[in-house]
Order: sequence, then structure tokens, then C-alpha cells
Amino acid sequence: MRAIIEIIQADITTLAVDAIVNAANNTLLGGGGVDGAIHRAAGPALLQDCAALQGCVTGDAKITGGGNLPAKHVIHTVGPVWKDGSLGEPKLLESTYQRCFEVAHQQGLKSIAFPAISSGVYGYPMRESVVIALSAALDAREKYPELERIIFVQFSEGAQQVYMDAAARLGIAPS
Ligand code: AR6
Repeated sequence: MRAIIEIIQADITTLAVDAIVNAANNTLLGGGGVDGAIHRAAGPALLQDCAALQGCVTGDAKITGGGNLPAKHVIHTVGPVWKDGSLGEPKLLESTYQRCFEVAHQQGLKSIAFPAISSGVYGYPMRESVVIALSAALDAREKYPELERIIFVQFSEGAQQVYMDAAARLGIAPS
């Protein structure tokens, strides 16, 4: 069975899945946006686990436990800061999604929830980032048969609509 792709509007910190993805920065020591929300909800154990990882380069991903979150794990990834798209931003963003799926696979995880990596503080236009996100999910569900659920989580109604429209264009019927 191929994984189902879900597109939902929610606070990612509330999801009881195998892993939620954190859109972090290179230090992995917390920040604003979804990173801040995840650290607040997970509690100090998460920061301790993150400190041991010694940072993360842009485009890579590293996993920790979930602390007090309902999710079992957090996969921390670092997306590119958007300048104008000519500085390798698309490849780096693609790499964040691919590395998250790889790390999830290495741990045998079956459900993974993503925020819109780079599309907040880092300024990546969502109409472009969504295509990279959904294409990576289509690839991952062919590559990793153990995956059951791939969830894209939007904070706002506007973002949810952008994801739903892009899914329709790519021929994805989200559950
Ligand atoms: N649940 C789901 N999505 C959320 C939540 C939430 N609780 N909170 C925000 N979003 P951002 P970035 C959405 O800025 O652009 C941090 O300071 C948000 O609306 O969190 O990758 C890090 O430490 C947006 O669509 O991440 C870095 O320094 C998306 O999550 C920097 O921000 C990503 O927005 C990373 O910037």
C-alpha cells in the first residue's frame, strides 16, 4: 500500500504521529515560528537532545525524541533562506524534504507531518515551495513502502488553500 497524503490545517504540535518535522535553523537551539512552538510544547528535554546534535547544515535533517509532544519524534531540518531563487534555494529545499523522509525510513517510521519548511521567516514563496514539498512526497511514497501517512500541516486557511490547489494540479487526491 502506498502512503496516503493528507493536507490539513492544524497546529503541528498537537499531532500524535511517529514524527513531526521542525523547520529549524543551523544551531538547532530553537527560534521563532514553528520551531518556537515545537520547543514550547515539547519542553526542556528537546533542547537538551538538540544541543547534543551540534547543529545541522542547510538541507540536512536530524532526529530527536519528542519530549512532551504527542509525536514520538521530531525531525529537525534546516531550509534555505529565500533570496531570489537563483542561489540554489530550490535544490536545498528539495533536500530538506528528501532527508526528512530518509531519516524517517532509517527509523522505520510510518507517519510523518511537515510544516511548510522555509515558507515563514525564511521567506520562500509558498506557491513555489508547495510543489517541491508535494513532489518529494510523491517520490517518497514510491520509495518507502513502510510509510503509511504523509501529512502536510498548514497554520492558516490561505496556506491550506495553496496546498489544496497545488495538490489538484499535481493530480493528488488528498485524504
Ligand atoms: N503548526 C504548523 N505550522 C506552523 C506553526 C505550527 N504551530 N507555526 C508556524 N507554522 P517558520 P522557516 C508555519 O517561520 O520559514 C525559526 O525562527 C508558518 O506559518 O516557522 O523555515 C527557526 O528557528 C509557515 O508557513 O519556518 C528559523 O530561524 C511555516 O510554518 C526560522 O524560523 C514555516 O515558518 C525558519 O524559518
